[in-house]
Amino acid sequence: MEIGDNMKALITGASSGIGADIARVLSEKGYDLILVARRKTRLTKLKSELNTNVDIINIDISSTYNCLELFNQVKNEDIEVLVNCAGFGVFGDFTTTSLEKELDMIDTNVKGLHILTKLFLKEFSKRNRGYILNVASSAGFIPGPLMSGYYASKAYVIRLTESIYGELKAIRSNIGISALCPGPVDTEFNKVAKVNFSIKPLNSYDVAKYAVNKMFKKKLIIIPGVKMKLGIFFSKFLPKRLLMRISYNIQSKKEV
Ligand SMILES: NC(=O)c1ccc[n+]([C@@H]2O[C@H](COP(=O)([O-])OP(=O)(O)OC[C@H]3O[C@@H](n4cnc5c(N)ncnc54)[C@H](OP(=O)(O)O)[C@@H]3O)[C@@H](O)[C@H]2O)c1
Repeated sequence: MEIGDNMKALITGASSGIGADIARVLSEKGYDLILVARRKTRLTKLKSELNTNVDIINIDISSTYNCLELFNQVKNEDIEVLVNCAGFGVFGDFTTTSLEKELDMIDTNVKGLHILTKLFLKEFSKRNRGYILNVASSAGFIPGPLMSGYYASKAYVIRLTESIYGELKAIRSNIGISALCPGPVDTEFNKVAKVNFSIKPLNSYDVAKYAVNKMFKKKLIIIPGVKMKLGIFFSKFLPKRLLMRISYNIQSKKEV
């Protein structure tokens, strides 16, 4: 099975930012797409830009019911690529952030991604082919004071993806699973999380292009940009307490 034999991909979080750019990149490679997000007008606008076939499913993936329905709706479509990109962050001191918002974030970043990964992986396993790209973050490698729930949610995505990768390797599966772990990327993420960048962001299309190419090479952890790669590498040698202090300082500069 070569890249592109099936040529159909489903992308959650496709209405803006990295998800929309992954849609552009996959469409340029000839993929038909199923775009998923809540904002239908955004998805319709993106569809009008693309030259391959596009279906739109506007749902909120924080709901278990919606995720199960989504899978039932598309399970016979012979999808080759699943991109779990929908997600957002909540900023603030843990004692003051909204519990409701954080639970919504966990339902989106963790639960929705978990459900879709499981259902699609089962389907992919029947055919022993397919690719899953889980959009985590470099935030998943370190503690994130002032964005604690978000950083923890991304740590979950990395660990889940790594563990499934291990299972697939053990049975010599043909299926690829990857975790995309970017640092700051210029999208609507900051507006949603109500933060400013403390580090110069990468261009979203460049990140998407890099991620898609690495996903097709079945790379487990995908970190765009040399600086972030080095940062993550060296952070492994720092004591946790120092890392937490550095992380806190970076985070506190993000406050709007
Ligand atoms: N930008 C960064 O600096 C950065 C860095 C590392 C990782 N990431 C990760 O990259 C992913 C994409 O974020 P982005 O930076 O591209 O931000 P973005 O421009 O705000 O895009 C977020 C996407 O997620 C969708 N989404 C959010 N909640 C959803 C829900 N409950 N149901 C369905 N769709 C939902 C949004 O669509 P609707 O609002 O239309 O539903 C939108 O399409 C996220 O998982 C984020 O954590 C971002």
